[in-house]
Amino acid sequence: MNVTDIGFLRRRIEEDDAVRSTPELREALDSGAPGVGPWLDAFGDRPERNLVLFPLRGIGSDIVLATLLAGGTVVLGDPGAHPARTLALLERSGATAVTLPSKLLERLNSEPSAPMTDFAELRRIFYVGEPTRFDFPGPELSRVDTLTFEHVSEFVARFRDAVLASMLLTLQANDVLRDPAISHTGEEILTAARVAERHHGVVERWLTALTEHGVLVRQGDRFLGTEPIDADAVAQAWDEAEKLWTGHLGAAEVAAYFRRNAERLPQLMTGEEQATLLLFPEGRTDIADALYRDTAVARYLNARVSETVQRLGAKRILEVGAGTGATSEVVIRDLADRADVDYLFTDLSAFFLTTAKERFADYPWVRFGIYDIDTQDSDEPGAFDVIIAAGVLNNARDADATLSRLKALLVPGGSLLIIEPTREYYEILISQAFMMTAAEDVRLRSGTMFLSRQQWVEAIDRAGLSIVDVTPDDTHPLSPMSQYLFVARH
Ligand SMILES: C[S@@+](CC[C@H](N)C(=O)[O-])C[C@H]1O[C@@H](n2cnc3c(N)ncnc32)[C@H](O)[C@@H]1O
Repeated sequence: MNVTDIGFLRRRIEEDDAVRSTPELREALDSGAPGVGPWLDAFGDRPERNLVLFPLRGIGSDIVLATLLAGGTVVLGDPGAHPARTLALLERSGATAVTLPSKLLERLNSEPSAPMTDFAELRRIFYVGEPTRFDFPGPELSRVDTLTFEHVSEFVARFRDAVLASMLLTLQANDVLRDPAISHTGEEILTAARVAERHHGVVERWLTALTEHGVLVRQGDRFLGTEPIDADAVAQAWDEAEKLWTGHLGAAEVAAYFRRNAERLPQLMTGEEQATLLLFPEGRTDIADALYRDTAVARYLNARVSETVQRLGAKRILEVGAGTGATSEVVIRDLADRADVDYLFTDLSAFFLTTAKERFADYPWVRFGIYDIDTQDSDEPGAFDVIIAAGVLNNARDADATLSRLKALLVPGGSLLIIEPTREYYEILISQAFMMTAAEDVRLRSGTMFLSRQQWVEAIDRAGLSIVDVTPDDTHPLSPMSQYLFVARH
């Protein structure tokens, strides 16, 4: 069971409106879920009968799971109901706590029937959003910061430190870079560490990353060594990063996946072990699911893609590099009651199509096919209203050529929705980089793996598409993750 897939709870909540934690739920939550952490902190060890006034997804799911984990029970309210009805429900349900958006709390506060409402059972009000007040005596009012810019920035820095420490530990284990008085060329380091030829590019990028962050010093074409790093210090760096991640930005298994890669670096760089098997152990997709679907940033961006598709009223939709279907799942579910949609789910690899056919079996308007963004030109120009490319365009050998190819598939006025990472992610240099193809565009010259936000904007412009939106903006808590949704119009 997936931690954020709490559909099984929905029925039970509707049936008896007082769900208790089950062994099934506890087991799923042992791995943590994105967004649950701040709620567990807020509830502390006081179990509540919690009236949840959020839809049962995103924040709503987090609150339900956290309430149950804290030993409480849940009553689900309708966030769209008239405030008078919500106040009546508050009284009738015997809720000891209520969780709601600040706007809704404001409306309850100014509702004419509020002074007549009996708040005797209600002990705590938890709200999200702008600071607000509650004029009636009794309940204690707390604002819950679900995810802050500072928390995410801190995670980004600690995670980077852990990854860099692992790179250094791995290289030093081969008797290189352990002495500040001795220098080596890149080639000497690659040879000493027995790096497989196809991975030379990746380990060269480690050297660049370690130099950029002042861990190593470069002199001409030589790298000076540094004091040997201690395995305990590396473990501690990982512990800190994992603590900031789990329950806030994603599930524990995502952080554990990267840590496992870090521990297997000697085998990955020599080619004795395949990175694909760490991401898809025994062909399982649960780690990839947690990585692409159940992180705070994936949830946020996938929801924005779906909203955009809805807003555009698109009928003919093509998804390229749909992979595990993390984005497709949200978009397809939100299109479920539209009879006039045609959704073509494609990927380069047939492996993903088999799983997707099962996952989307209930939607007869979803079709499946192989599509290669590097080579396949269409015999059906202008066949699509929207094309979705989530996390796939960085695989393009030549981003410009791929953008032109996709543009040709769009009807004039159609939209291309691109989700892309836009900086160097050192965690990718110790994991997926071992299974990516080398780029032939500007990235080859700059030695980077992903185009920057500005480079994407320029590439989209060169392709003759116009940028309509780039999300999130610079003040958003998730902006330090540097992953964006680009909306471009033909
Ligand atoms: C990082 S994953 C994308 C995540 C995906 N949107 C999901 O939800 O799982 C990259 C995907 O791009 C696919 N891919 C790689 N190269 C491709 C190509 N040349 N054409 C089409 N798809 C490709 C991979 O098979 C993989 O499924």
